[in-house]
Amino acid sequence: KERSLIMIKPNGVQRGLVGEVIKRFEQKGFKLVAMKFTQASEEHMKTHYKDLEKLKFYPGLCKYMSSNPVVPMVWEGLGVVKTGRVMLGETDPAKSLPGTIRGDFSVHIGRNLVHGSDSVESAKKEIALWFKDDEVVTYTAGNNEWIYE
Ligand code: GTP
Ligand code: MG
Repeated sequence: KERSLIMIKPNGVQRGLVGEVIKRFEQKGFKLVAMKFTQASEEHMKTHYKDLEKLKFYPGLCKYMSSNPVVPMVWEGLGVVKTGRVMLGETDPAKSLPGTIRGDFSVHIGRNLVHGSDSVESAKKEIALWFKDDEVVTYTAGNNEWIYE
């Protein structure tokens, strides 16, 4: 069961796009197994984006990401890490095709609306950072047999 951390960034919340992002992952056939509405500390965001700490935009990114509420979620399903990234679009919205979330709703790289784990390995780390074990829910999705052969 592959899982990915998908997180609606502060501008996604402020712009009223929480439902839109959730809708796309639901409609695709992925299964929601965890979600919260929270404002993270700057330290928490520094840990989340630790791999980028040498880059010049890192301090501003962590400040921004902790400035307002975010909606981290865990989505589960076949190929969800890679497919989730395709659904998000490229890091730079200017390179994101229409039909992707960033391509449809954003224009600036620093305000690209949604985060998605970039590998199965980083997904595991990120899920552990944002959710306690018992906040990730195990259940049977009623539509499962209509989504998988
Ligand atoms: P995330 O899903 O948020 O992790 O984005 P990503 O995996 O597509 O890109 P990456 O992890 O490399 O960068 C994390 C975030 O930093 C991006 O989503 C951007 O918001 C921001 N970022 C990346 N590159 C730049 C840049 O050159 N300038 C600015 N201002 N922000 C950047
Ligand atoms: Mg990334």
